[in-house]
Amino acid sequence: MVGDGYSSLIFSIEGVIVFVGVDFGTSNSSIAVYNGDEIRLFNIDPLCLNPKVLPSYTFITKEHSTFVGIEAIENYLELESGRPAVWEKRKAGQVEVTVAGPGKGPIIYMQDLIVEVDIAAQGRLLQSIKTALRDPKYEGTQIFDRFYSIEELISLLLTTLREKCEQLIGEPVRNVVIGRPVKFSDNVDTDQRAEEKLLQAAKLAGFDQVVFELEPIGGAYLYHQNAFEREKVLVFDFGGGTLDMTIMELGKAIPPHTIATHGVLLGGNDIDAVLMHTLLKYFGEGSKLDSGHPFPAHIFEMLFSWQNMVELSRPEYFQLFRQAQNGSDPEGVGRLESLVRNKLGFKLFQRLEQAKVDLSSNHFTQVQFIEQRINLKNKITRSRFEELIADELALVDEAINELLLKSGLRAAQINAVLRTGGSSSIPAFKNLLADRFSLQRVKELNLFTTIVGGLAVKGYELARN
Ligand SMILES: Nc1ncnc2c1ncn2[C@@H]1O[C@H](COP(=O)(O)OP(=O)(O)OP(=O)(O)O)[C@@H](O)[C@H]1O
Ligand SMILES: [Mg+2]
Repeated sequence: MVGDGYSSLIFSIEGVIVFVGVDFGTSNSSIAVYNGDEIRLFNIDPLCLNPKVLPSYTFITKEHSTFVGIEAIENYLELESGRPAVWEKRKAGQVEVTVAGPGKGPIIYMQDLIVEVDIAAQGRLLQSIKTALRDPKYEGTQIFDRFYSIEELISLLLTTLREKCEQLIGEPVRNVVIGRPVKFSDNVDTDQRAEEKLLQAAKLAGFDQVVFELEPIGGAYLYHQNAFEREKVLVFDFGGGTLDMTIMELGKAIPPHTIATHGVLLGGNDIDAVLMHTLLKYFGEGSKLDSGHPFPAHIFEMLFSWQNMVELSRPEYFQLFRQAQNGSDPEGVGRLESLVRNKLGFKLFQRLEQAKVDLSSNHFTQVQFIEQRINLKNKITRSRFEELIADELALVDEAINELLLKSGLRAAQINAVLRTGGSSSIPAFKNLLADRFSLQRVKELNLFTTIVGGLAVKGYELARN
């Protein structure tokens, strides 16, 4: 997993030269350094409840100022959320159009390129940019009058990590071990392309030497430091975008050995989307238009991510909402219209995520969302939540089977199961691991800093050897 060679030695703490570790996460990113003695994490987002992590959000204003982390969220909530979109057609240049002529060759003419823009927009929020690496065609996005490549978007987060680290240690940071999921994509070419894009992003962010390591292997390195017996461990790293697992033999100061790895494109974001199912009726799902025809079902599929909801604020959908004014549920569709036209989707998803987190420590919670025409108070119990995520539980169970199969080991031969990543604190997944491996063998590692700490240890090892 070597991105760009790692022979030269660049940065040192008390004479020991290291690479820093960077965990570029779907939801949270962090940077750490190991000096052979202790792991140092850095305060990278003073506004975050845990300042050692930077929530992986970026907000870019119309003037192209950029904000990351909690500041990005705050800017979006202040400037964008809750205000109606104002779409206008604008000329964005000209395109050459070629059509077949009447027998004498093609006819070529110029046509105005018209795009629809929300003229009231002050900025764009980007969340989970790591997930965009799964898409083989995604090159980036137009933000007002500028195109931002995906490498550039990722580099905004990585630059913040590097600069904060440099400020705090007072030395340039140029060498990095960056974690990557076991797979970015099921397709090998797309997976390689994703790693290449991440490498370019790291270069843009000012790193010269870039080494990749699988995220769960990073986690295992940290545990290895304090394992005095030789053990077979399973790392279960369940984050916002992916579930990444490895089985390794480690400990007793003998270098860790990877037995098997397995990755699944499932994470906390998918679980938030599942919770959206409980709200669809409230927003008019299953209702009829004035004509008696069903309100189109595909509209509700667009509610499973707030980014898609923004699309529904476009004028082409206004007529549809009007056609439901005398339908079977005008109130429900009215709430849907308010949700999308006032760009409240992100805020609603934040509530859903909070409800999910609450259900990890409580047996019931309430999704309360009171905005404009919406007055939602939806109770949800943990057992209902567990019914809703039955497919995700089955997927994870199957993934554990596949990992064990690859490793040639039985569950009973695994000495410890190490849980990390925010989604690994969901009780249903904890129980699943306890059922399969026995409760005593399942251990919780720090949910948000294990991977980065292990990557820093790996960075230290690289520089020493
Ligand atoms: N107590 C909790 N219960 C349930 N889910 C939680 C809890 N705390 C955090 N999460 C979820 O964990 C996810 C973030 O975890 P984490 O920071 O480990 O992900 P990440 O490393 O950024 O993502 P990935 O590794 O998949 O790229 C989010 O989906 C968040 O909602
Ligand atoms: Mg992670």
